[in-house]
Amino acid sequence: MEKKEIKGYPHVLYERVVYPLSEAEARAKAYYEWLDTRRTVRDISDKPVSKELIARLIMAGSTAPSGAHKQPWVFCAISDHEIKKAIRKAAEKEEYDSYHGRMSKRWINDLAPLGTDWNKPFLEEAPWLVVVFKRVYELVDGEKSTNYYVNESVGIACGLMISAIHQAGLVTLTHTPSPMNFLTKILNRPNHERPYLLLPIGYPKDEVFVPDLARKPLEEVAVFYPEE
Ligand SMILES: Cc1cc2nc3c(=O)[nH]c(=O)nc-3n(C[C@H](O)[C@H](O)[C@H](O)COP(=O)(O)O)c2cc1C
Repeated sequence: MEKKEIKGYPHVLYERVVYPLSEAEARAKAYYEWLDTRRTVRDISDKPVSKELIARLIMAGSTAPSGAHKQPWVFCAISDHEIKKAIRKAAEKEEYDSYHGRMSKRWINDLAPLGTDWNKPFLEEAPWLVVVFKRVYELVDGEKSTNYYVNESVGIACGLMISAIHQAGLVTLTHTPSPMNFLTKILNRPNHERPYLLLPIGYPKDEVFVPDLARKPLEEVAVFYPEE
C-alpha cells in the first residue's frame, strides 16, 4: 500500500473503484431496491446465530464515519439468557408505564398501526441482543475528553449495522425502551457511556407479518437545486 506524509501525518493511497455512470446508476438502483426490502421485524426466532456473525455485524457498524474519528460507540452483545431475561423484565416495566400514561394520546395513536404494546418477548427470544452505548467522553489519564458529534456518529454506526444485518438475511428492530438507564446498570457500563439503542438480532420466525407501510416518495424527501 502506497504511503505518504501530508502535513506531518501518515496518509495511504485511497483505493479508487470507479464505475462508468451507467453502471454506477445500476448499482445504486440495485442497492436501493435491496435496502427497500428491509423491514423492522418484531417476531424473532430463537434459532442460534454464531458469535462470529454478530462480531462481523458489529465491525460493519464500526466502519462508520465519526466526529474527529473518535468512534464513540460500544456494542454490548448479549446471548446470556439470564441477562436477556433481566433486560426484558426492566424494559417491560418501563414500557408498561409508558403505554399506561407516559406517552401522549397522539403517540399511542401513531403507534397503533404497528401493533406494538408493552410486551417485548423478542428481548428474551432473540439469540442476541446488541445494546449500543454512546461514549459521551473518553477518560484519558483520569481527565474527561469530550467526543464530538456523538449522536450523529453513533446513529450512522447503527444504520450501517442494520444494513449489515439485512445483508446477512437476519432481522432486527430498533428498540428504544424509555428511559433506558436500566441497561447501564444491568450491563455494568461506566458513567461516560450512555445507552443509545437496543437491537435484538436473529432470524425471523417462520411466518411473519409486518405492518403494511409505504415509504415516502423521492418528491417528499428530497429537494434538488436547480429543480430540473
Ligand atoms: C429511533 C427509532 C426508535 C424506534 N423504537 C422502536 C421501539 O421502541 N419499538 C418498536 O417496536 N419499533 C421501534 N422502531 C421501529 C419503527 O417503528 C420502524 O422503523 C417504523 O415503523 C418503520 O418500519 P420499517 O423499519 O419496517 O421500515 C424505532 C425506530 C427508530 C428509527
